[in-house]
Amino acid sequence: MARVISIGEKDGAEAAIAAAVAVLGSRRPVAIPTETVYGLAADATDPAAITSIYETKGRPRFNPLICHMADLAMAERYAVFDPLSRRLAEAFWPGPLTLVLPLKTNSGIHALATAGLDSVGIRVPVGFTAELIRSFGRPLAAPSANSSGRISPTTAQHVEADLGSKIEIIVDGGPCPVGVESTILKIEENEIRLLRPGGVAVEEIEAVTGRTVQRPKASGTAAIEAPGMLASHYAPNASVRLNAKAVSEGEALIAFGSDDISGATMAKAVFNLSRGGDLAEAASNLFDYLKRADASGASGIAVQSIPNDGLGEAINDRLMRAAAPRNSEG
Ligand code: TXA
Ligand code: MG
Repeated sequence: MARVISIGEKDGAEAAIAAAVAVLGSRRPVAIPTETVYGLAADATDPAAITSIYETKGRPRFNPLICHMADLAMAERYAVFDPLSRRLAEAFWPGPLTLVLPLKTNSGIHALATAGLDSVGIRVPVGFTAELIRSFGRPLAAPSANSSGRISPTTAQHVEADLGSKIEIIVDGGPCPVGVESTILKIEENEIRLLRPGGVAVEEIEAVTGRTVQRPKASGTAAIEAPGMLASHYAPNASVRLNAKAVSEGEALIAFGSDDISGATMAKAVFNLSRGGDLAEAASNLFDYLKRADASGASGIAVQSIPNDGLGEAINDRLMRAAAPRNSEG
């Protein structure tokens, strides 16, 4: 079983960095806390290390990984920044934003991390993981620390329950404050294209840049642009029913806001993402409540409608994937 090292304890962060650097140096992955979700991290320059991420997750290898950097200066050693991408990096890093950028030739990032593309998804995370990368000295490729196709983990306990028997250490940084994965953007022909909604709201990106963010034209476009974005993802065992106006027999309820919904008192379990209607609070609770609703033994999970502005766009994106017909994407 994995050893869980809490960074909340005295000298915990130093101990966790030392232990993680040792495991990473032996070409194996470690589970790490980020502000979005827990990541399963390994040396992005080492094919054996990257292979162990894919194997641990059971992840298809055509799905490229995000490479995490300690800071913008480190990122510039691996990728080519156009002025708009640099502006976005300066505004939102460290933070829940991934930029897809042209890879520098001989960057050292292994083709297994980028799935052979000539671009690379890069992000600078907040806090512990940036410190870990600085100590390790190389970028860390890290998808979410869950088996392929399952709900992303937002606590160390989620990681332990899913991958605990397959990895050596889990660094416990407490619950992830953002709770949904990073927003992925790509600049093309001087336009900002949204490849995945996430922890930075589109409105914030538009406010900082004074530009309109281009969303995928038709459903399915994003699946081609960001290969990991196939429909079914975040799949609980129970079926998921969106925009529920009432709870049916045998269902658990994931509520939002303070309105009562009929049948709620008969629900197998009730979780409210945010009674006050706060979308950031809802995002931070989303994956934990999906897992708990699923574990309640309910046959289905009814989810109340959630506004689509701000972080609501990422929340609804993840819910639609949870509700989609199943495949083994992840
Ligand atoms: O918040 C996050 O982004 C988390 C934490 C751990 O940092 N990571 C994460 O990674 O969500 P993952 O592997 O679950 O999602 C990576 C996404 C995939 O949809 C993949 O297709 C896309 O990033 N991606 C990575 N590199 C890309 C590239 N060069 N071009 C297009 N899409 C890329
Ligand atoms: Mg994932």
